Amino acid sequence: MRTLTNKLIVANWKANKTITEAREWCETFSTLDHNAAYEYVICPPFPHLSALAEHFPNLQFGTQDFSPYGAGAYTGEVPGYILDGLHIRYTILGHSERRKYQGETSALVARKAAAALADGVTPIICVDRSEFQTQIDQLSRSEIESSIFAYEPVHAISTFGGHEDPLETTLAAIEELRELAGGRAPVLYGGSVDKENSLMYLQQEDINGVLVGKTSLDPRAFAQL
Ligand code: PGA
Repeated sequence: MRTLTNKLIVANWKANKTITEAREWCETFSTLDHNAAYEYVICPPFPHLSALAEHFPNLQFGTQDFSPYGAGAYTGEVPGYILDGLHIRYTILGHSERRKYQGETSALVARKAAAALADGVTPIICVDRSEFQTQIDQLSRSEIESSIFAYEPVHAISTFGGHEDPLETTLAAIEELRELAGGRAPVLYGGSVDKENSLMYLQQEDINGVLVGKTSLDPRAFAQL
């Protein structure tokens, strides 16, 4: 089973930031104080990864998706092979926006998870409650044991309404997901996390970190979580 020593704080920039803005973000973030008990992962758009990884070796970068294919005739794909040398350790998979706009199914997410794991990258598999069972059913035991999950209730994501989950609902959902995954899987929470509510989640022993969209676009706000 994958274990996390520190709480994982993941920035999901989604489809935002030019390379200039991305560099400025990293420069600012690098100068700010961070909580030493947290492990930060920044997931920029694909085209920025190479320049950011080269210029900011002090920061850790991840991807917002992972191709289920290897190198070859797969127009538009970014296979793990191409990411070689960028020290990518995490990838966000199955985000609700990809499930909604790209029609990603739990079966496809599972193929992506398998490809990521084969390349030594840990999937952070996003699921809302209605997807818990179908997503777990698509994964092998070893894939489940090597992955991190993120409970992301769609209604709580800022761009889909941003209605905060009551903490009891979040904890109950995470417990349900963890049980389906075999009892000990790391589970993050995502949905309108900001500096006002982040501690409420991060103080919970059962929540292994947070996946942050809107708040992550500002390096100062992100560093204050
Ligand atoms: P949000 O996004 O923090 O803007 O709600 C979270 C996510 O989409 O992962």
